[in-house]
Order: sequence, then structure tokens, then C-alpha cells
Amino acid sequence: MRFDIHKFDTVTSTMDLAIEAAETGAAEGYVVTAESQTHGRGRRGRVWTSPPGAGVYLSLVLRPPVAVMNGRLLALLTLAAGVAVRDALRQVTGIEARLKWPNDVLMGPRKVAGILAEGINIGTPDQTVVLGIGVNVADGAHLESAGVQGTALERESARRIDGDLVRDEVLGAVASAYERLSRGEADDILRAWRAAATGVVGAKVEWDGPEGAVQGTTNGIDDHGALLVRTADNLHRVTGGELRWL
Ligand code: BTN
Repeated sequence: MRFDIHKFDTVTSTMDLAIEAAETGAAEGYVVTAESQTHGRGRRGRVWTSPPGAGVYLSLVLRPPVAVMNGRLLALLTLAAGVAVRDALRQVTGIEARLKWPNDVLMGPRKVAGILAEGINIGTPDQTVVLGIGVNVADGAHLESAGVQGTALERESARRIDGDLVRDEVLGAVASAYERLSRGEADDILRAWRAAATGVVGAKVEWDGPEGAVQGTTNGIDDHGALLVRTADNLHRVTGGELRWL
């Protein structure tokens, strides 16, 4: 993939700029990065605090063909991006991060990076995914997310980390994971994700079903990237929404 990187000082959200560019014809590989975001966002409308110089904030435009990953595109891309970010952070810091379904990258128990995949015209020949990635590099970065404590690369590695290097490693690793998915190697990505996951088997979780809160125990992910949760009488597929880890 050829990257076309557009760097900004301050933006509302790199997602806004990348989505606008995608809607006006930007090609696959178009990237928006910023030093800071005034309205950085996470999953489910949460705030992603993005002060200057404390994190890598990027959004990448992807234009996957419709025939590939049909019906599981956003889920697989989110998992693939998690695998890629983990690989990139290992390259830069030597630390093995863990992945927490669906999109958290953790060092120890703390979140160091997050992934947000937003789709445009999914299922049509114009389908586009804007993949947003935020990595906490230095203190002051996004350190609190819906009850999950955060951390930053400099804190974990106890040395200075070059944000540009993190950005380049992340982009390279995402491109290679995406190319594997596009070649039909989803099984490899799923295998890598499962091997790096934490809490994906045997953890107690709760979510809001149509008839109120349901509690169960995680039982892996299926090949569509859904989390499987066993309750007293059933095996549920959880595909999104709010999952609480107990
Ligand atoms: C999450 O963990 O909930 C996802 C966080 C995604 C944050 C990144 S930072 C770059 C891009 N721009 C945004 O506004 N969000 C994503």
C-alpha cells in the first residue's frame, strides 16, 4: 500500500478529515495524522483525550473490495489492526502488549492504544473503512477510558519514544495485516489475535440484552470476530455494544 500522509497540527478529529477526504475521492492509503485533536473520539462516542505531542493520532482510508470479508469486514479489520498495533509496539519498545476484545491494546492491565473502524457505504462497490488508531506515547495522553486505566509507551518502557517512529511502524504493520486479510488469510489474523488476547476465555462479563443485564463467561471469538459468551443456558454471540468486564 502506498501511503499519502497528511500531517496537521490541531484537528477536531483525524476521523473527520479522513472521512471527508474519503467521501470526496481520496484513494486507499490516504492518512491523516495530527499533533493534537480537540474532539478525539473513541468507540461508542467516548472522548479520546488528545493533547499535543502526547500520542499518535491517525486515520487511514481503506477501500476493501466487496467480495473479501463479506459480512465481517469491520470486525476483522478491527482485530487485524489490533494485531498490527501490537506488532508495531513490540518493534518500538520490545514490550508484548495484549489485546482485549474488541479493540483495546493493553500493556499489563492498562490500555495503551485504541482502534476505531468506521465504515462508509459498507456492502456496496464504494465501500470504505476509515481506521482510526490512537497510541498513548507520553504522559498526558488519553489515560482513562470507560473505567479502563490507561498507560503510555514512555511510562511502560521508561525511556523516550519517538512518535513518528511509532506512527511509521503502526502504518507498516497495518498495511501488512490488511494485505493478509485481502489475500484471504483471515484465519492467520484470527489465530494471531487469539494468541495475543487476554480475557477472551474464562472472564466474567456483563452486557445489556433486550431483557436486561446478562452475565456470562467468555468462551473465545468466532471466525466473524464476535465474542462468544456462555451463560447458564446458552452460548451468546456478542458483536458490539457495551460489554462490561467484571
Ligand atoms: C477506542 O479505544 O475507543 C478507540 C480510540 C480511537 C482513537 C483514535 S485517535 C485517532 C483517531 N481519531 C479519533 O478521533 N479517534 C481515533
